[in-house]
Amino acid sequence: MTVDELYRILKAKLRDIVPDIELRYKAELAVQILTLKKERNALILGHNYMEPALFHSIPDITGDSLELSRAAARATQDIIVFCGVRFMAETAKILSPQKTVLLPAKKAGCSLADGITANDVRRLKEQYPGVPVVSYVNTSAEVKAESDVCCTSSNAVAVVESLKADTVIFLPDEYLARNVALETGRHIIFPTKGDPLPDTTLEKVMIGWHARCEVHEKYTVDDIKNVRQQFPDVVILAHPECSPEVTAAADFTGSTSAMIQYIERTNAPRYLLLTECSMGDNIAGAHPEKEMLRLCSMRCPHMNEITLQDTLDSLKYTRYIINVPEEIRVRAYRALERMLAIGPTVPNKPLD
Ligand code: 13P
Ligand code: SF4
Repeated sequence: MTVDELYRILKAKLRDIVPDIELRYKAELAVQILTLKKERNALILGHNYMEPALFHSIPDITGDSLELSRAAARATQDIIVFCGVRFMAETAKILSPQKTVLLPAKKAGCSLADGITANDVRRLKEQYPGVPVVSYVNTSAEVKAESDVCCTSSNAVAVVESLKADTVIFLPDEYLARNVALETGRHIIFPTKGDPLPDTTLEKVMIGWHARCEVHEKYTVDDIKNVRQQFPDVVILAHPECSPEVTAAADFTGSTSAMIQYIERTNAPRYLLLTECSMGDNIAGAHPEKEMLRLCSMRCPHMNEITLQDTLDSLKYTRYIINVPEEIRVRAYRALERMLAIGPTVPNKPLD
């Protein structure tokens, strides 16, 4: 594809979202990436939070954490470039150890993954022997290795229910845990905050942790009230990393891809997303007929680290290579494999 062709494609989708001069420059970078991608036999995976020009130009597959994990597991190319954050690239490496997995920006972390260590999990397992541990994929490989099974935002309820256990440890996102506990009818406790373990013969229990997503924790019920006052017909979608008060006040809660699909399949006069802001731009680019409200200034600083320039450099200089020690990888693999066996909950359909 020539720069002019790609510029025209991007312009058609993003003319109201990205300044023209930026689009032209980004089309040039994207064409270099697409050429190098072919030469190096690489697969580019792009999370739904990538900035709009990147999202709409270079990924072979876009999606949420679960869809991209599945894509990494079945990749046939030599290299996987992960346009997302470190825990996602690590997951790809755990699932596809024979591939070179590259993360274009060294610093692209996650406040949830930073919120718990393998030592914390080991201590919890000592405190609650025999209780199964579910870890959100937004964790380090070391934490996954200490876990029985992983989950993402799109299959968390199914994973917890698959365990058929009275008590479940669910780490590390406090709000996702609270949302899943509500959906699965569990009483939730936070042992680090000193709650005693309730009588599990009377009720099912979830043992949570206190990490939060630094983006989603910022949304409040007042945000929702204010928007509904101004736009009574708005449909509001929230990610389950938002507080249970926020998800209860929203019209729909789901993973990033579940939210996209909800919007693609419905015809509301306007939508508001309570999640990372680029996703609203990406949907507006693919579906100009949908009105996406943008009261939004919530950017994930980690996702935001991934640029087209970094992705080009990543392919040019083979950086930054993700490595997971084999002893940790095989244990983390078991937890991920168990999750993937539970089956897809959202069909794998990239945005055009
Ligand atoms: P999804 O799995 O829904 O894409 O979420 C990943 C994430 O990091 C949300 O903040
Ligand atoms: Fe982590 Fe939140 Fe960023 Fe998702 S949006 S990568 S959970 S910090």
